[in-house]
Amino acid sequence: MKSYLGHPFWQTTIVIVTAFAVIRFGIPYLPPLIGLASAPVPSTVVFQYTVTVIVGLLVWASSNEERWQAFKGPIWSLLVRPEQRVLRGILLVLIPGLVAFITYDTVRPKFAAPPTLRSIHPAPPSQITFRGETMVLDRLENPLRAAGRTDEASATGKTVYYQNCMPCHGDYLDGLGHFATGFSPQPLPLRGGGTIAQLTESFVFWRIAKGGPGLPREGAPWNSAMPAWEEFLTADEIWAVIIFLYQQAGVSPRTWGEVVE
Ligand code: HEC
Repeated sequence: MKSYLGHPFWQTTIVIVTAFAVIRFGIPYLPPLIGLASAPVPSTVVFQYTVTVIVGLLVWASSNEERWQAFKGPIWSLLVRPEQRVLRGILLVLIPGLVAFITYDTVRPKFAAPPTLRSIHPAPPSQITFRGETMVLDRLENPLRAAGRTDEASATGKTVYYQNCMPCHGDYLDGLGHFATGFSPQPLPLRGGGTIAQLTESFVFWRIAKGGPGLPREGAPWNSAMPAWEEFLTADEIWAVIIFLYQQAGVSPRTWGEVVE
């Protein structure tokens, strides 16, 4: 073992394997340490860095004649010495076989099942915690609408919408704001059929308050850019923007009396 560790060929091999493992598997573990999501290293980056490490090691190995001779030793012995015949034979089959397999694997047509369709309107939870307070969503009505404060609420809602929502959901509430094409999934239109017109206000409240991060599992796998507005808006501001949305879209919310499909 000790003679292996002291030999430039094996030292080089160990450093290459370690460097590859650190780049490929170690680095993705760093972001979680500071509270960020883990991110895989792109394969092209892994390739570039590994090649850089290999070139660096070859420069090191060949920078000294004695070390270079020692480095070449195992390679020469494998290629030339009669007692390495068996290993040589195995590698002669294995290496071209591996190249053939990788080539085949990259060019073969792959018929993967389409990703499961995401549920655009997943079932809401029966209750949520809004800024530390429990809020039962079932049968919850818009308090501002119930109090008959729609005009005032609509004016507040308009300000809230243009200050916060327009860049994504659009001036026309069609989901085509300036930033819309930058997101996948794209912001949903709030106007037209199949939109908020078929939702209760409490559902819309939940979606605005909890955003993409609050989506249940059937909303996955996709990364919604919809922010969790409870961090920035008060409950009244959210109820107000909801009134503005329905007014602008020219539709009324689904009421709790209707039969749920
Ligand atoms: C950074 C872009 C962005 C901003 C800003 C944004 N949204 Fe969204 N919103 C999205 C995306 C993307 C979706 C679709 C994915 C999803 O459902 O989470 C969405 C979905 C929604 C939905 C769900 C609609 C449905 O049919 O289920 C509502 C309601 C909504 N947004 C309201 C708002 C309101 C109100 C604001 C402003 C207070 C706002 N959004 C600001 C990106 C944004």
